[in-house]
Amino acid sequence: MKNDPGRALIDKCFRELPVFRNLSDAHLTQLSRDFITQHVKKGEVIFYQSDVSNDLYIVLEGSVRASLMGEGGEELILTTFNKGDFFGEMSLLDGKPRSATIIAEEESMLGVLKRERLLRAIKNDPVIAIDLLSAVVQRLRMADSMIESLAFLDVSERVVKLFLQIARTTGEKDKNGFFRIKRLTHKELASHTGASREAITKVMKVLAFRKIIREEENYFLISPDAEKIAEKAI
Ligand code: CMP
Repeated sequence: MKNDPGRALIDKCFRELPVFRNLSDAHLTQLSRDFITQHVKKGEVIFYQSDVSNDLYIVLEGSVRASLMGEGGEELILTTFNKGDFFGEMSLLDGKPRSATIIAEEESMLGVLKRERLLRAIKNDPVIAIDLLSAVVQRLRMADSMIESLAFLDVSERVVKLFLQIARTTGEKDKNGFFRIKRLTHKELASHTGASREAITKVMKVLAFRKIIREEENYFLISPDAEKIAEKAI
């Protein structure tokens, strides 16, 4: 279909997807045809934890987050998936309900692949299984790091660790060595660190008093001293 913008996006992005980077051209073309696209608005839920489904998703444009929800509505953000990342592999592989809720962080375009199509592609070219596995192992490492933080770091160390992670991936450094990062609400900080909003409010006051962070209207400034303070935390 010439006028299908989703199809055009798949054709454009498919060659750059890390998980399929080792596929032969013929298999890549076949697999790209098996994908359909799904457009989602910011805040839309793609699926809920415990849902029974087993498609694999790839972020073609935008970003989504994987979260666990507490009974009182609290959210723990496990990770964010950006362009080129896949999700939904756990239910696809073990047939159990979805392990997390996936929510669009912004307007996004997703590629969706039926389980049987992926299994057929793996049979045709088992290299996909190795690349999937290595991405899953990397997620396990990040999950270990999150467990370590929750078990051994206090809330202020977790917040500083998060700021430094964001600073290293998306922050800009000014001439004084301060990182400028996007401002997050206390609720968002709580969701990223597994802390309560009240605990975050207290910690942010202390970090501001110690001049580790400065809260500006649209961004945070993170002092270079955060690196020293967080040495234990990283
Ligand atoms: P699935 O269980 O099918 O649906 C939810 C998805 O969220 C899951 O597959 C993974 O793709 C992703 N997911 C769940 N837990 C984690 C985690 N700890 N780290 C990264 N991704 C996760």
